[in-house]
Order: sequence, then C-alpha cells, then structure tokens
Amino acid sequence: MSLLVLTNIRKSFGAVDVLHGVDLELAAGEVIGLVGDNGAGKSTLMKMITGMYHADSGSITLEGSSILQLDPGARRALGIEMIYQDLALAKQQDVASNIFLGREPVRKFLGVFPGFVDKAEMDRRAAEMIRRLGANLPSINRSVGSFSGGQQQTVAIARALTFNPKLVIMDEPTAALAVREVQGVLDLIRRLKSEGIAVILISHRLNDVLNVTDRIAVLRHGRVVANLVTAQTNMNEVVAAIVGGGDMAAAAAHESRG
Ligand SMILES: Nc1ncnc2c1ncn2[C@@H]1O[C@H](COP(=O)(O)OP(=O)(O)O)[C@@H](O)[C@H]1O
Ligand SMILES: [Mg+2]
Repeated sequence: MSLLVLTNIRKSFGAVDVLHGVDLELAAGEVIGLVGDNGAGKSTLMKMITGMYHADSGSITLEGSSILQLDPGARRALGIEMIYQDLALAKQQDVASNIFLGREPVRKFLGVFPGFVDKAEMDRRAAEMIRRLGANLPSINRSVGSFSGGQQQTVAIARALTFNPKLVIMDEPTAALAVREVQGVLDLIRRLKSEGIAVILISHRLNDVLNVTDRIAVLRHGRVVANLVTAQTNMNEVVAAIVGGGDMAAAAAHESRG
C-alpha cells in the first residue's frame, strides 16, 4: 500500500491558481525529489500535506485513510514531519533543548510533584538520537547557533526523528550549506530511508536530488509534468522537464546556475 497519496490537489490564493490538480504518490521508505522553478508551487504543495494549508479540492490519504480534515498537530501525530528551510531552531539553546523543545522530559519530585525538567535524561536521549543518525556534533551542550549549517540541519532532523515520523519533508536542506557539508545531509537522508522513513526532498541542487532519491517529481506552474525514476533519468531530462517547452537555452542557463 502507498504511504501517501495526493489526488487532484487544487489550490488558489485569491485569483491566483497555484496548483492545478496535482497527483503524487509515495511508498514507505521512498525518497522523492520535488523539483521545479521558483513559484512552481512546491512549498504550497508540502504545506497541504502538513495541514498548514487546506486544498480547495482533491484528496490526501496516509496509509489509506483521508487526512484532509486533520489539523497539523494530528497529522504530525500520524507521522508527518516537515523541516523548514529556516529550521525553526532556538539558536541560543543547546542540542537537547532544541530536540525536545516544548516536550522536555519531566522528572517528578519525590515521585509526585511534576515540573522539573530532567536535563540529564534529555541530554542522554539527545545524544542517542544523534548517534542513531550516525552524525557527529562538537558538543551536545553548546548553543546550536554556534554550529555550522550542516550541524544545525542534523539537530533539526534529530528533532523530527523524536516524533517517530513515517514521512519527513525537507525544503531546500542543502541550499545554505558549504559543499563539504552537503554530503553529510545526504547521508542523513539515506539514514532515514534505511529506517523505513519516506522523505520528500525539495531542492534546486539537482545533483543532490539525482544522488539521493528514488524518484523525481517535476512541478511546473502548479502541475506535475514529469515523474521520473532516478536510476533511469539524467540531469538533461530533469532540467528539460523543469523549464519545459523544449527550451534548451533556458535549460542550459538553469543547468549552469544550479
Ligand atoms: N500565502 C500565499 N498567498 C498568496 N500567494 C501565495 C501564498 N503562498 C504561495 N503563494 C504563491 O503561490 C505560488 C507558488 O509558491 P510556492 O509554493 O512558494 O512555490 P515554490 O516553493 O515552488 O517556489 C507563487 O506564485 C506564490 O507567490
Ligand atoms: Mg518554496
């Protein structure tokens, strides 16, 4: 059975039609690249999955059941996680605080009175989560604002993992990273897949997408114009689908940009 099925999703903002009947299907543990030019509708489509936006029409099912009526909290409880481009981390706080933000393990005083955040337990579980990702951080007790972009990405992914996700959506996770850090994030995506977690990767970095995905969906002007098996496609084909209309000059320009 498919993990997630989007059928004929439509969305307008006022007079602007953004999505024109999008179909997308994802199996458990599958890594899909979602690519397309700026404004194609990628982020809007993902916000329909998390429940931040509501589709005007169409259906969305997770493991066969409709999630359309569920709010973002309920969808998260069912295993849908999204990591935003800005990562939404508390930069002044340390790794464990970020991983458990708002859900700190509480130790009962004399086994009765609640209210003490169990920092040692938090640190222990945070370290375990980082290890599970096969990642390394300089220190679990430093503020995450002092970390590199790739290390911060690791913290954001570890945070997502604590919700036991079935699907992790990542919006441009490698866009702001130094080249040497990109491989680390791609490794994290492979690690999620190896745990049976599906990933939707939105990225302009087509080399990364070709590297790490099983399939690539191309969105253009609110339509899925190509659904490619990564092992059977190449950069030229993906770029041609993104720019459309056999526009090879634009394709060449896009390729040299990205
Ligand atoms: N909240 C919003 N209100 C109005 N228009 C929006 C809103 N969110 C996105 N759009 C418009 O929808 C289109 C698709 O945007 P987006 O989904 O962000 O594209 P992408 O992520 O592919 O760059 C753009 O034209 C954008 O201006
Ligand atoms: Mg976007």
